[in-house]
Amino acid sequence: MPHSLSIVILAAGKGSRMKSPKAKVLHEICGREMLFYSIKAARALTDDVIVVVAHQKESVIAAMERYFEGLTFVTQDTENFPGTGGAMMDVKPKHDNVLVLNGDMPLITQYSVSEFMKSDSDIVMSVIELENSSGYGRVVIENGHVLRIVEEKDASDAEKAILTVNAGVYAFKRSVLETYLPKLSNANAQSEYYLTDVIALARKDGLEISPLIVEEVEFKGVNSKFDLSTAEIIMMDRIRRTWMDAGVIMQLPETIYIEEGVCFEGECLIENGVRLCGETLIVNSHIKAHSVIEESIIRDSDVGPMAHIRPFSMIEATHIGNFVEVKKSTLKGVKAGHLSYLGDATIGEGTNIGAGTITCNYDGVKKYQTIIGKNVFIGSDSQLVAPIEIADNVMIAAGTTVTSGKYESGILILSRAPIRKVAGFFTKFFGKGA
Ligand code: UD1
Ligand code: CA
Repeated sequence: MPHSLSIVILAAGKGSRMKSPKAKVLHEICGREMLFYSIKAARALTDDVIVVVAHQKESVIAAMERYFEGLTFVTQDTENFPGTGGAMMDVKPKHDNVLVLNGDMPLITQYSVSEFMKSDSDIVMSVIELENSSGYGRVVIENGHVLRIVEEKDASDAEKAILTVNAGVYAFKRSVLETYLPKLSNANAQSEYYLTDVIALARKDGLEISPLIVEEVEFKGVNSKFDLSTAEIIMMDRIRRTWMDAGVIMQLPETIYIEEGVCFEGECLIENGVRLCGETLIVNSHIKAHSVIEESIIRDSDVGPMAHIRPFSMIEATHIGNFVEVKKSTLKGVKAGHLSYLGDATIGEGTNIGAGTITCNYDGVKKYQTIIGKNVFIGSDSQLVAPIEIADNVMIAAGTTVTSGKYESGILILSRAPIRKVAGFFTKFFGKGA
């Protein structure tokens, strides 16, 4: 960066058009709150990132501190100084150049933010040309000079017809903010202090204001739940693209959902309809159609189709087949091909989990562990009642309910009611057949 730069992200507003009890900037896109993305872009350019908060500030701060260290949070006095200008009143940037972003622009990238630093004007402001400008501040330009920005609620009919709008990102010299923020007034339709009024004040004093035409797709504010879904489609596309460029194979990628926290290593193949959530790591593995993996590590394995790997599972050199649910379990060198629930379990190498095996980990009050050793053969339709520990080299007969306790190496465990054969029953009951 040629300039020393501070970045301010405005995130104090309620976002009432979201129609939600949750603060707008905490709504999630690809598994992370939308504010995460603008901070990530800002962080790539400077260490001085200041986030202005007010509405639900405790939740906003707690959410962002999970991802970033060393952010500065400033609380806006929304009682006395509402509005985007009010939001800037207590901000103390460290550097001479101050870039202001809205917290509701998750699609903005580091690259387009850095474009604002290429000019040496007193103010660089983002403009977009739209076919329908409703909802935005209109930019009044005369002879190529920006004169002022008029908010929709304050605009005359002629001003409303202007299709050049303020995208809401600005680069100011710090001295410009220091001079004009104290001069803002709230004599407007919303009785708010508008940051956008700095433009007209600076213009009257002959300062240089450069418009920078930006891409609508990156600068579009998220103001409604529809906007949220549109932004997620674009973000998801970027995430998939990044991982495909890194070598991941995806079949019908537009049907695959991958959250921001997911990572891949080595050669991975992801089939259609897969959902990958949280801080999941997939290494040299094949995830088959319509499987869901949450917050887990999958290494040298194949999973699915239609398997569900729930949080905190570690799966290594393992085959997981269809309709298998795994939760908070460690499986290494295991085969679980069909229809099982494996929860709170540790399962050793060479063990085969028969179809329909269930770990009964919950007694209605507490959860208990299941520990299964190496080379255990579990017959189909067995139940393992936890807490339970099965040593290496054990065979469990199909249909066995293995009750809690410890089982030693080398044994067969079998619990089966004896078979009864009742001759002639079918004909007697149904009145047909031989
Ligand atoms: C703002 C601009 C408008 C521009 C549009 C682009 C002003 C007065 N208007 O309008 O010209 O076209 O963005 O998207 O700046 N915020 C605070 N404190 C507040 C109010 C808002 O921090 O008191 C934050 C919000 O959390 C949000 C951002 O500022 O992240 C923008 O607020 P919003 O209410 O969405 O502004 P717009 O009406 O869209
Ligand atoms: Ca907005």
